[in-house]
Formats: sequence, C-alpha cells, structure tokens
Amino acid sequence: MRPGNTKAIEEMFNSISSKYDFLNDIFSFGLHRFWKGELLNMLNPTYGEIWIDLCCGTGDMSILLARYMKSSENITGIDSASQALLVARERSKKNYSFIKWINGDALQTNLPSDQFDGLLMAYGLRNLSSSYAGLREAFRILKPGGRAGILDFRSFEGRSIQGLFQKIYLSFFVVPIASLFGLGKEYSYIMKSLVNFPTGAKQIDLALAAGFKKAQYRTLAQGQMGILLLEA
Ligand SMILES: C[S@@+](CC[C@H](N)C(=O)[O-])C[C@H]1O[C@@H](n2cnc3c(N)ncnc32)[C@H](O)[C@@H]1O
Repeated sequence: MRPGNTKAIEEMFNSISSKYDFLNDIFSFGLHRFWKGELLNMLNPTYGEIWIDLCCGTGDMSILLARYMKSSENITGIDSASQALLVARERSKKNYSFIKWINGDALQTNLPSDQFDGLLMAYGLRNLSSSYAGLREAFRILKPGGRAGILDFRSFEGRSIQGLFQKIYLSFFVVPIASLFGLGKEYSYIMKSLVNFPTGAKQIDLALAAGFKKAQYRTLAQGQMGILLLEA
C-alpha cells in the first residue's frame, strides 16, 4: 500500500483495530503511554478546556487526556476508521463516557473554526495524505492562542545511527512480530509512511506556513520519537 491512499489506509486501520493496542504495547514495551503522558505534561490541558484528538484510533490518547484533565467532558476524538472507533467507544463507555467520538477525516473535519483550546495527534500526521493540509485544518479549528501537540516517529534525513536503529527496529522487530499475527504487510507500512514524512525542522516550517504563531520540535526516546508543539 502506498502512503497517501486515504481509502486503503482507512481499510488497513479498520483491519488491525482489534489487535492495535495489544501490538502497540508489545512494540513499544508499553512506553507509548509514557510518551503520550510526556506530550500531555508539555501541554498541560486543564479542566474546563475544550480539546480534540485527531486520528484518535482506538482512543488511547483521548482517554489519557480525559484522565489527565480528570474529566471526559469537552473531549472529541476523530478518526476515519470506524472499527477503531468501535474499540474506542467500548474502552471509554465505563469511565470516560462523555468523550465524543466522530467518524471523520482529519483533513476536513467539518467542525467550526476557532473552536478548541487544545489539539492532540498521536501517530496520525504521518498517515495523512498531506502533513501540511493536516496542520492547516488543525490551525483552523483551534482558537487563537490554542495549543497543539503532535507526537510521531521521528523522520531522519541522510545517514545516522538513530535512523539505522529505526530501520532495524521496524524491519527486524516490528514486522516479524506483526507477521506472527498475520499483520506483517500492514505493519511494514510504518517504514513506507516515514519515507516522505517531514523531519522535525520541516514540520516546524510547515506549521508556521499553515498559520501557527509558534512551533518547536522536541525529541523523545533517544531521538526515536518527536513532538511538534504548536501555538495558534
Ligand atoms: C497509528 S494510528 C494512531 C491511533 C492513536 N492516535 C494512537 O496513538 O494510538 C493512526 C490513526 O490515524 C487514522 N487516520 C489516518 N488518516 C486519517 C484521516 N485522514 N482522518 C482521520 N483519521 C485518520 C487511522 O485510521 C488510525 O486510527
């Protein structure tokens, strides 16, 4: 599957939704929750604010956000994969039942402009057909002064030890384990999605071009993950 093929990406995420969280825990040794927690610490969402989680998938980030804010009111999660949202609804129905789950496109949310105090996106930007278009839409729906945090794999330019480590990790750990669950092809997509994914510096340029007032990029996990922090 080619990155940018929106329909195929939606189908892929639908097909892996039941195993997504389980495999995420294996592949990151559970650390993805720590990285998501770091993202929240950097943004410090507070009770009463209105937040959105773009590309929310099975709802992990939205639920962590609700836990952080000690309320699931005023939180919206949006994703194009309906099966992933079914998992999100099921996971949230007991303790986080106010989260609003929307089946929609992060590139064109159809939500009113200037609506949110904060916006999150975890491992979503890389999957969009255009990072710039995703950032434009994020900027549009944020209130002026609203803040955003975008967590994803880091993209490397040229040769580097960290880039080599990423390739080895994805090719010799992630894909073989996913293959044991019949999902080797689906998880080999991660590497493809990184080929044209902008580096941190380029993400900053795109965000500023999309309208954001401030943009900075921080790395996590020995430089394997990156967080783009934005102010609208
Ligand atoms: C790697 S998953 C991340 C899920 C979740 N944020 C997490 O961290 O566990 C990427 C998600 O992006 C969603 N996605 C990809 N393109 C999208 C689009 N154009 N609009 C909305 N969601 C999209 C996929 O359906 C998938 O659930």
